[in-house]
This record gives sequence, structure tokens and C-alpha cells, in this order.
Amino acid sequence: MASSCWWLFSLMFLILGETSLSAPVDHHEKQHENKCGYQSCHTTNTAMLNVHLVPHTHDDVGWLKTVDQYFYGDRNDIQHAGVQYILDSVVDELLKNPDRRFIYVEMAFFYRWWRRQSTDMQQTVKQLVNQGRLEFVNGGWCMSDEATTHYSAVIDQMTLGLRFLNQTFGPCGRPRVAWHIDPFGHAREHASIFAQMGFDGFFFGRVDYQDRYRRMMAKEQELLWRASDSLTPPMADLFTGILPNGYNPPMDFCWDQSCDDPPIKDDPDLEDYNVDDVVERFLNIANSQSLVYKSNHIIMTMGSDFQYENANLWYKNLDKLIHYVNARQSNGSRVNVLYSTPSCYLQELHRANLSWALKTDDFFPYADDAHDFWTGYFSSRPALKRYERLSNSNLQTCKQLEVLGGENSTRGPFGKGDSFTFKKAMAVAQHHDAVSGTEKQHVANDYARRLADGWEQCKVVVSNSLAALSGSTAKRVYCDGLNISVCPISESSKKFSVNIFNPLARPISWPVRLPVNGSTYMISDADGKSVDCEVVPVSPSTRNVRRNRGFAVNELLFQARAPPLGFSTYSVSLLQDGPPPVSTQYGAPKSIWNKYLRVTFDPETGLLSGLDNLETKQSISLTQNFFWYNASDGNNSKSNQPSGAYIFRPNSSTPFVISKTAKTESIRTSVMQEVRQCFAPWASQVVRLHADSRVLELEWTVGPIPIDDDLGKEVITQLDTDIKSSGIFYTDSNGREVLQRKKDFRPTWHLKQSEPIAGNYYPINSRAFIKDDKDQLTVVTDRSLGGGSIHNGSLEIMLHRRLLYDDVRGVAEPLNETSDIFPDGLVVRGCLLLSLDRPSSAADAHRLLAEEAVLQPLLTFTESDLHPNTVLEFSGLESMLPPAVHLLTLSQWDDELVLLRLEHQFQSGESKNNSQPVTVNLQKLFSTLEVVGMSELNLSANQWKHEMERFKWMALNGEKVPKKKFRDPSTWEVTLHPMEIRTFLLRVKHR
Ligand SMILES: *[C@@H]1O[C@H](CO)[C@@H](O)[C@H](O)[C@H]1NC(C)=O
Ligand SMILES: *[C@@H]1O[C@H](CO)[C@@H](O)[C@H](O)[C@H]1NC(C)=O
Ligand SMILES: [Zn+2]
Repeated sequence: MASSCWWLFSLMFLILGETSLSAPVDHHEKQHENKCGYQSCHTTNTAMLNVHLVPHTHDDVGWLKTVDQYFYGDRNDIQHAGVQYILDSVVDELLKNPDRRFIYVEMAFFYRWWRRQSTDMQQTVKQLVNQGRLEFVNGGWCMSDEATTHYSAVIDQMTLGLRFLNQTFGPCGRPRVAWHIDPFGHAREHASIFAQMGFDGFFFGRVDYQDRYRRMMAKEQELLWRASDSLTPPMADLFTGILPNGYNPPMDFCWDQSCDDPPIKDDPDLEDYNVDDVVERFLNIANSQSLVYKSNHIIMTMGSDFQYENANLWYKNLDKLIHYVNARQSNGSRVNVLYSTPSCYLQELHRANLSWALKTDDFFPYADDAHDFWTGYFSSRPALKRYERLSNSNLQTCKQLEVLGGENSTRGPFGKGDSFTFKKAMAVAQHHDAVSGTEKQHVANDYARRLADGWEQCKVVVSNSLAALSGSTAKRVYCDGLNISVCPISESSKKFSVNIFNPLARPISWPVRLPVNGSTYMISDADGKSVDCEVVPVSPSTRNVRRNRGFAVNELLFQARAPPLGFSTYSVSLLQDGPPPVSTQYGAPKSIWNKYLRVTFDPETGLLSGLDNLETKQSISLTQNFFWYNASDGNNSKSNQPSGAYIFRPNSSTPFVISKTAKTESIRTSVMQEVRQCFAPWASQVVRLHADSRVLELEWTVGPIPIDDDLGKEVITQLDTDIKSSGIFYTDSNGREVLQRKKDFRPTWHLKQSEPIAGNYYPINSRAFIKDDKDQLTVVTDRSLGGGSIHNGSLEIMLHRRLLYDDVRGVAEPLNETSDIFPDGLVVRGCLLLSLDRPSSAADAHRLLAEEAVLQPLLTFTESDLHPNTVLEFSGLESMLPPAVHLLTLSQWDDELVLLRLEHQFQSGESKNNSQPVTVNLQKLFSTLEVVGMSELNLSANQWKHEMERFKWMALNGEKVPKKKFRDPSTWEVTLHPMEIRTFLLRVKHR
């Protein structure tokens, strides 16, 4: 291969008309040694402006087409794009000239391609990788969305891709650079995660237009992002670069088959010789670009969406561009252009030894113009967003049970199952056009189908594992429709048992709600003790959303407990058929309450009017209602931008109330009280208080959103309080650290606000809160949604959107979701959890609440009588972990090897009790697993912790960071500091 390569290389220079073998040949010897990463970069010229040309393709893991359609190049009528051809073509072209470079990003595609290559081809590709000619950047399964993803799923998808790279290519396959060129705004938690994964730097393309302008003027498009308030620098420090042109090539320099720019016509004997013109234009662009960056290196992204399918076009012209631009050096040009990669560019920035502006906030929201805020997708496709979040919970449970159940989990009484299918489906769902809701409808359906298929495979693992752990091989039934009261087994059986598996490392008490048709039941727990339960009628809104998919008239309620990382089994027997003993009362009660909370209602309107915490003696006024913004249709004097899948643009800043009053009915039982509010046939809510709970549950149901008035609607709920929040509210970043948000304000630049609502929206991944000196009201969500605090004391959350126009960002479909069951428009149901606390102790409540909302218990059902020897209760832990410690990952890695991630889930200083370092003994962690060996990894588990070395960067005006070295108390005892995640590979034996 090496010799044929040399031959082609020489040939190319002959074709170019090069007579003497000049500069590039110096590199030649080097090219054929196995040197990858920073060692394989082309040399640069310190006395010149160096232009790093980065050939790349941006391959969306689903968007206008499904991930498989993109891979094969199917449905080119929708969009011409075929990733298999891109990889085929690029490899061919890289072999023609050792100077050429290419980067590849998305393992969802590369994995598909790799498996279909011959051993010879795989060898060839390995050599390209080992020589740094093909370089992987980012390297996750996909390029994740940053606004609507949860950190746990992002870490998983990165781990999946990076593990494949390490297994396939070893150290040369390890990306040095994170690369999020397309996501629509950037989350601080992503930067923090990337830093902990060992990346040396991060590049992206989209940033708010006002922010970009200021940064260009100040030469701050390259900066040092300090992405955590809690982690000791430089743990979460990440060098960050904003690319000059989004991720596109400079104007008129696109040489793909999908572009129309003129090729370089370099034969003087032919018509239209244009070399001088091309070189002039290029030098102009390079020189003006260098004015807004700090060093004498600049980067140009030579590629775009699904480009390089016929890579010859690009490379042939790039070869010539490099040749002719550099040839000008002999005439005094001070511009040196070279094939490069993001990491080679980064290395030069690092060598430049400059100081960089420090940033500690995030890059949300993103606007590309005055009336074009990309804040709609924070809530787009809320049903898919919920399904993705629930799937994450189910996947974590599946992985945990695969470990706990041992070898029989994947091959047991219920057949062969695997967690890999689900892992891949979840990884694909993190893509920036997947959970974000910015894909076409048929692609959204494909993501959901993949998640459902993955879960089916995982159910086999779960059933096998529970059989191994319980000793019962009774068939297990899964009820995925419990949120709409559908579960065939509880609807029709006279006797069944419910197994509740708890994926958290601490015990939980969970309100169970099962669809039934009887009126009286007896429930006993794992010890045979009887459990309080009640039967209530199914609500009208549940019947509406259920649409003949089940026939339960009642719901059976009880509070179930489950031990840490384990299960408990309850048996349920029907005592009596007939109507429910508890009936509904019409009208709203003045209040409902339990030991901890009192919720008051306005008897006139039926709306919430107040919330009291009876333990802390706090009391706030709290009015809540549902509204909709009239989505702009683009016919507007200020701008023709309509609201769409990406963009939120209300036509007016005043939302319309759905109804000023709610029709209400209420139910009081010993285990739960609820007030059912109906605002319209398409908007209702249940305000629910469980007997033993410190949180108020608001279960909302919205849809089908009516559009017969030809108005697109964006439905919100508003919580108005007397909390003196002074225009400030707080949101989490990807479910982890909390950021402060201030109305009409950005921490790093002077904002000219042009959209009073959309420009004040932020992603809420798991929680938001408002507070003053006395009170903090926290709302925990069950999925990612967008929201803002437009008025003092007020918090609004966008729940559902139905739009009639496309917002001209490429998806070319209005966000108007329908389905077979909902041809009249999707109905979406969800839950907001409210807690009222003293600000000083609120974190103790909301951290744990969010943890429970993210990792929910899994209920499985068995019909037949359980064998008397069946184990009814089990915990996989020797003892519960302290509340500060979250069991983030427990996953089978290999034979006898288990991946464990432990997370300190509190920020420093936010909790008196829990913001302290905690120590956990890994050897005494599990009840059934003996830990015989352990080693620590980086966060993405593709590098040993002790080998992890990153570039060090200097911050402008940054004080010297004192080097703190933490030491663990002993080999087996590991200490976690606030917000720290530690990743271990454990060698285990089943006891
Ligand atoms: C796995 O299943 C086989 C066959 O049912 C059984 O003999 C074996 O004990 C099981 N192994 C474990 C670790 O449970
Ligand atoms: C990376 O993969 C190699 C095999 O290619 C393996 O030996 C090594 O342990 C892996 N590294 C990590 C951190 O898993
Ligand atoms: Zn994209």
C-alpha cells in the first residue's frame, strides 16, 4: 500500500505541473511511520498565517431521513445523502495522497460501515488511522443535542462510541477533540462532561449572533470555558473554539457534488483559467478571518452536511488550492495553507501559549437573528421527549439487572436477550435532531420504534435476571401503558403480583396506580403484611387519552416500598367487584392537605391559590393556569419568521388563557387526595397529594390542540407566586448543575432584547426554581421542556406545541403531530412535581426528587401463584448509599468486568448536610457480588485515569489555580467531592 501511495502522490504533482519536488515531500518520510494524533500533524510556519483546512462531513444520525436511510443513501428524493458512499469514497481518496486528512464523527454510521468491510479494507483503514490521516473527533455514537438531553444518556452515548473506537483502533482511535458543530446552543454541563472525558478542546459552530459579533471584535471566539462551580479547576475547564463559518466552507469554496462553486481551472491553455482569481479570493478571506482570531493559525471547515460522497471533487480542488496558495509564498505571500484536523489546529493554539477569555455561563438561548430564537425545540415533540427519558430509566434498570442476574440474564428461561440494542437506540435518540424534536415526523416515529425494539430486547434480560434473583420463572408481564391506565393483567386478573424494582441506591416509597375493574382489593407486601389501598374511578381525561386501549373503570392505589438497587413484591387479590367505594365530589374543595403540605384552591375559579409547607411553616400564594401563545405565521411587520420545530416566535407577548375557570371534581382517600381540573376538552390537570409525600404532583394532559381556527398554538402552564424573584430564576444544565437566569440579560454580553418571551426561554431538563430570602418553589419535570420567568414571582413552562408553518431551518415540515390513534392531534400527558422549601435546604429536596423522577422504579407483573420459595424482596447493595451519592452506572462491561459510576449529586455549598465529600467502600458495595479488583477510568471509560493527560490552558486575568490533590483513604475506599463522577472498572465474582 505504501508504495502505490507514493506513486499516486508523485503522479498528482505531475498532473499539477509541478516540476521540482518541493516542500510537501519533506513530510513524506514521516507520513509512513505510524504516528497518529498530535504527532501526525503537518508542520506549520511560525512566521506566517497558517490556514488549517479541515475536510469533514456532517452526518446527522437521522433528520430528514432515518439513520438507516442516511446510511444507505435511500430516499434520495427527500435529501441526497448516503453515508456508506461517503466513507467508501473518502478512504479511496485518502489513499491517493498521504497529505490529505479527514475527520469522522458519528460512530452510529461508522460502526455500520465498519462491520461491512473486508478484513483487507479494515487493515487499510487502520493504517490510515494509525498515520493520523483519518482521525476521529468527538467519537460518540452521535453528536448529541445539548438543550434537551440528560447527562446520564449523554455519558452513555459517548461511552458507546468511544469504546467501539478504542476496541477497534486502540489509542490512535481516541479522539482528542469534542466537535459539536451543529447543535443549537451549548450547555455548560456538556463542556464539563467533555473535560472529564479527557478532551483537550471543543469546537462548535452556532452561537448567538450578538454574542458572536462581540467576540469577533474582542477576539474572544476562542476561550476557556470553566464549566463547573463545584469541580476543582482544571477538572471541568475546556478550551472552546467557535468556528468561523458555522461548519461550512468559506463562501465560493465549496467543491462538493452538492455545490455549484467553480472548480480550480488551472490549465492556462483552456478556457476560464481561474487560479489567480481563486488564490486572491482565498487570501482575502484568510486575511480577514485572521483579524477576528487571536493566533497566527486559523481554521476552515471544508465540508458540510453529508458531503464527500464523491470525495474526489473536494480533494482534487483542495490539493490544487494548497499548491497554488503556497506557491505565492515565493512572491512574498505570508499565508501558509495545509491539510489539518481540529486537533492539529488545537495543538497550534496550545503552542501559541496565549491567555484566553474565561467563561463560566452557558450558550443558551441561541438566536441567529433578532426574531429568530431557537427556543421552541426545548419543548418540541414533548411525547418523544418523555419516551426518551423513560427509556433511559428502563435502560439503566436493564443494565443493572444484567449485572445482578449474572450470566443467566442474557440467556435464561425467557430466552436470549441483550441490552446492546437498547443502548444503540438510546444513543441514536440523543442526536441533535432526535430528542430535540427537530426531525421529520417519519423520522421521529423511527426513533420511537427503535426505543421500543430496544426495550423489548431488554425485557428478556430483565425477566431472566428477576427469575435468577427471585427463583421464580413465572412469566413476567410489562405494562408500558400505566400512565394512561392500561395494563391487561391488572384489569382482568383476580390475583396477581407486582414486582417493583428500584434502580436507586437508596430505598424508595412509590405511589402505585393500577387500572382495575374490581372495587375492593387486598394487597400484602413481601412480609405478608397487608398494605393500605384504595380504589378510585378512572378520570374522564384518562378515558379520553386512552381511547379504547384499555377498559379499566377504576384505579387501585397504594404506596409501595422497594429496597436500594432491588425489588419488593406485592400480591394483589380481588375481594369484590362493583363500583368504587370512593366517589368523586363535584367542585373544588377549599384545600387538600397531608402531614407536610396544604394546597388551597380558589372556590370561584377552581384554580390553585396557595401552597403551605406545614413542617417549615412556609406559605406562598400560588395561582396556576394554562395558556397558549399564538404562534407567528410569518406574516408580521417585524420579521417573516414563523414559529416552528426549532424556533419559538409568539405573535404577541400576551398568552391567551385557555379558560379562566376550571371545572373541578375531587377525591379524598386515605392514601391520596386529588383535584381534577378541566379547562377545555383538550386541557386538563390532576392536582394530587399523596399521603406520605412532601411534593405536590401536577399531572397535566394537553391535546389534541385545536387548530380549526388556523392558529398554531404553543401551550404553557404559568405558576404565579408572591415570591420576590426579581427577574431571576434557575434552571439545571442537562440535569446536573444549576445556572442562574436573569430576564433580558446575558452574563457575558450586553443583550439587545428583541423577543421578550422567546428571548427569555431556557432549557429545563429536570428542574427550575424561583426564590427569595424566605421561599423557594422548585418544579421538577419528567422530561426536558422550555420555560422562563417573564414576570416577577412567575415561572412558565411550555408543555406542548402544534404549529402550522415550517420555520425554514431545513426540516421543511410544520410541527403538527398526529398518529393513527390521534389523527386529530397528539395528546400529551406529563407531570410537574412542586416543592416549597427554605432556600437553604431546598437542594436536599430537589436533588433527590429529580433523581427519583429520572430513574423510576420498574413495575412487572406475574399472574400465577408464586412458588413458596420465591424470593420476594432483594437488594443488590450491602447497604444503601448516602443521599449525596448517586449510582449513575452499573453495567456489564465484559466477562466478570462491570462498569460502575458513582456520582456526588450535590453542588458545593448548596446543602449543609449533603455538600460534603463522601467516601464509599467499593469492596463492601454489593450484596451478591464480590469485588476482586478495580481500576479507575476517565468519565467515558476509554482511558485509564492515571494515563489521562490534558492540555493546560491559561485564562486571561485568571488567578493561578492551586493544585489540589485529593487522596482516597484506602485502595477500596473512594471519596467523592461535590458534583464529581468517578468511573471504575470492577472485576467481580457472583457470590
Ligand atoms: C443459570 O441457569 C442454569 C440453568 O437453568 C443453572 O443451572 C445455573 O445455576 C444458573 N446460573 C446462575 C449463576 O444462576
Ligand atoms: C482499549 O482497547 C485496548 C484494546 O484495543 C484494551 O487493551 C484497553 O484496555 C482499552 N482501554 C480501556 C481504557 O478500556
Ligand atoms: Zn446536524
